[in-house]
Amino acid sequence: MKSRPNLLAIVGSQRSNGNSYALTKVVLDSEDANYQIVQLADKKIEFCNICEKCISDDCPLEDDFNQVLEKMKHADGIVFVIPKYLFVPSKFLCFLERLDTIDHMRKHAGYERTFKNPDYSLFTEKPFCMFVTSGTGNVEEQTLKIVADYIQVLGLRPIRYNNPPFLGISVKAGDRKGEVLGNEQGITECKRLVEKLINSLKN
Ligand SMILES: Cc1cc2nc3c(=O)[nH]c(=O)nc-3n(C[C@H](O)[C@H](O)[C@H](O)COP(=O)(O)O)c2cc1C
Repeated sequence: MKSRPNLLAIVGSQRSNGNSYALTKVVLDSEDANYQIVQLADKKIEFCNICEKCISDDCPLEDDFNQVLEKMKHADGIVFVIPKYLFVPSKFLCFLERLDTIDHMRKHAGYERTFKNPDYSLFTEKPFCMFVTSGTGNVEEQTLKIVADYIQVLGLRPIRYNNPPFLGISVKAGDRKGEVLGNEQGITECKRLVEKLINSLKN
């Protein structure tokens, strides 16, 4: 493993440069890693229409999905940062569904559940971690659980937080853009989790 890993952060907020982005940037700026941040707010992500072409080819939809997927393939580790919108923002869910559909189509060689390629997964053991931002900062277990279920199907390996709910970190971000930068404890916890991810790449 090279000394400075390449991290990709995917920010699932539907507003550009909001709290999830600010948190991601302040955390990754302090780490010994190269990084890129993709804000889904700035990307065009269409709904999957279940055309099944991804069984053997790239997704044919003309939007930004394939570009983000390529970045995921090239990253050493991935950080997902999601604001709580009751549960999960719809654009982020749409993005996860696109990934899971490719995995499903290749595993089953089509829509029907055949398990023709049972060992297929889009990624192999690439580590990921998650933070959820919210106005209140309550423990956002359901948001983390929903997102983890989509992501683990893909073969990505979870780097867990040391405290409940373990799947990731809930950060009180407030609602005003940038308000999260006042939450020093939340920022420190997120840094620790990213460091755990980076250390997992060295082992
Ligand atoms: C549609 C919607 C639903 C939201 N639901 C919740 C919620 O249930 N609980 C909460 O604490 N914050 C909720 N929020 C507030 C956001 O989680 C909070 O403002 C967060 O900082 C937004 O992150 P962003 O700036 O990265 O978009 C909601 C915001 C939106 C737009």
